[in-house]
Amino acid sequence: MKMLAGKNALVTGGSRGIGRAVAITLANHGANIAFTDLVYDDQAKAVEKELAGLGVKARGYASNAAKYDETEKTVDEVATEFGTIDILVNNAGITKDTLLMRMTEEQWDDVINVNLKSVFNFTKTVQKYMLKQRSGSIINMSSVVGLSGNAGQSNYAASKAGILGFTKSVAREVGSRNVRCNAIAPGFIITDMTAALPDDIREQWIAGIPLKRGGTPEDVANIALFLASDLSSYVSGQVISVCGGMKT
Ligand code: NAI
Repeated sequence: MKMLAGKNALVTGGSRGIGRAVAITLANHGANIAFTDLVYDDQAKAVEKELAGLGVKARGYASNAAKYDETEKTVDEVATEFGTIDILVNNAGITKDTLLMRMTEEQWDDVINVNLKSVFNFTKTVQKYMLKQRSGSIINMSSVVGLSGNAGQSNYAASKAGILGFTKSVAREVGSRNVRCNAIAPGFIITDMTAALPDDIREQWIAGIPLKRGGTPEDVANIALFLASDLSSYVSGQVISVCGGMKT
């Protein structure tokens, strides 16, 4: 029997990149998938079709993860449509990189709202279902930048470090109801987000990675699978780096 057969997973920002890979990997192991993204466009429809082709129930939702009201509405819709929510993957994220001296208040607010507030929005609205059913796994996508900081990313690093404090606190709050909460800290993963970097910066990053390559979305998705499944039934409040040995 597949490891996640009969489980329902909700993945934010699932139309591309790491979120898409997580959705496909969980579906490959039997989970039904609800995923969100800013818009329900051709990309989202293609992911929905790919997931359905794996023999699971799949549905994409247009939902801005930074907005509490939209999130609450979406989560209630998912719970009605799927019955339960067993796995939540808070993956939606953006960057607005620049040195602090040039950073606008808007660049700060946008990154904190999409990366950190979204994690509050979805965890708060999903937890009521998980607490009631006395089981669940919440997986938050942080970053190695949240552990070490990075010049030009003070807004992003703050949002990703904030996720770690939130993850550890929630794990302590919900553990007695058999709900687990963990974070993944990816390093340099090859997606549209990192494709925006100039070639020389990308090469510099890769040179500093012991495994001498950028990670793939599937490298990250496999850790999400571990945290979603009973293989990690005694793991909560932890951060797992997926970074080719970059952060030790
Ligand atoms: P990506 O940019 O390829 O995909 C992010 C997805 O989230 C997109 O489909 C986007 O439309 C969606 N999204 C953005 N804002 C949203 C919102 N307000 N509501 C709903 N959906 C929204 O990014 P990637 O690389 O797949 O990153 C996924 C997560 O992994 C992010 O949280 C990112 O910070 C994190 N991460 C990525 C790393 C990398 O090297 N690519 C490294 C460390 C962490």
